[in-house]
Amino acid sequence: MAMAMLWLATGASAKLCFPGKMDASSGRGGISRIFCPAHSRTLARRWTAAAATAAPNGGIHLDCAPVPPEQVEIIQSMNGWVAENMLPLLVPVDSSWQPHDFLPCSTPAPGVSEAEALAAFTEGVAELREGVAGVPDEILVCLVGNMVTEEALPTYQTMGNRSEGGSDESGASSLPWAQWLRGWTAEENRHGDLLNRYLYLSGRVDMRQVEITVHHLLRNGMEMLVPNSPYHSMIYGAFQERATFISHGHTGRLAGQHGDKALAKICGAIAADERRHEAGYTRGSAKLFQVDPDGMVRALAYVMRGKVTMPGLLMSDGRDGGETLFERFSAVAERIGVYSARDYGDLVEHFVRRWRVAELTGLSGEGRRAQEYVCGLPPKIRRMAELAHQRAARSESRTVQFSWIFDRSVMVR
Ligand SMILES: [Fe+2]
Ligand SMILES: [Fe+2]
Repeated sequence: MAMAMLWLATGASAKLCFPGKMDASSGRGGISRIFCPAHSRTLARRWTAAAATAAPNGGIHLDCAPVPPEQVEIIQSMNGWVAENMLPLLVPVDSSWQPHDFLPCSTPAPGVSEAEALAAFTEGVAELREGVAGVPDEILVCLVGNMVTEEALPTYQTMGNRSEGGSDESGASSLPWAQWLRGWTAEENRHGDLLNRYLYLSGRVDMRQVEITVHHLLRNGMEMLVPNSPYHSMIYGAFQERATFISHGHTGRLAGQHGDKALAKICGAIAADERRHEAGYTRGSAKLFQVDPDGMVRALAYVMRGKVTMPGLLMSDGRDGGETLFERFSAVAERIGVYSARDYGDLVEHFVRRWRVAELTGLSGEGRRAQEYVCGLPPKIRRMAELAHQRAARSESRTVQFSWIFDRSVMVR
């Protein structure tokens, strides 16, 4: 992701939107709330001065009950493990790629004149534009949606820092958890930079509208389930990173098929980063499943019940109509196969297997119920995805408009 995105494609999201009760077993009982993308949007927009005086949290319901102290202790005790098992997944700065490596060089190399450098740059931009010329609008829409989501990185780092026991207390802490968070952020930061510059040079999108969307998304933020819980954050991180690995990878493959080898390479490099980050959060979660299986399986069920809050959910170009920008973007991603409900089903199945959820033993009653629920999810999601797919196939074709591509329309069915 950026703690990028685990969005559900629109076709399936309405069906996969579960009424989520708070998990009483994790110390957050008594509060109930329906979580779904549309509802979350309502929450984010419903702030009024009256509500702010009526409730300490401004009338917006957030689930920030204290994290059980034993969970915080477990996280704190893992610093040595993080240093050995997660930090090595970050690439040293000296051997990291940088956005500049993939883009035309804008400055003269030693011994090269200004005029020659400008000519080379112009030629590089022309080549880039030649490559992107055959990329259809729907792929550009997905690329912009991915880029906008990456660009909201400040929101995600803020979220990461709310995780109790693993946050960066001083802003420059040497604790391994803090080093991971900063290192992860630094690597992620290149994703938005690279895609942004590529799109700017491509001349194919309305950059001002794209920039307005980033501005809105950062102002709107994101809503995350239990943002202060390290267990939930680790699980969320694993899902997000795998989802972004999939979506960047698919976008790159499609771009390559339409003749843009440079874009395919860019998306591939970003996807590879997401893969490493996924490995970090997956390993961290696997370790936590060993240490506290009951707490983790309940956290996993909770995350699954609530759906994963999509970081780009609150994106807006200031022109939203009945259907939000995020819903339109997700519908395009679903149709062209950048990220679909089937991918989501695969994701859930992957993690249930990877964390050996079915084999967990010694669970409490709540833990066993959570285990049963989570293990039964993949086939349910697949069935729902299939039904949504069949429904879409039967329905009439439909187009949606995007300001990102100068108000042109693309087909979503
Ligand atoms: Fe990521
Ligand atoms: Fe990313």
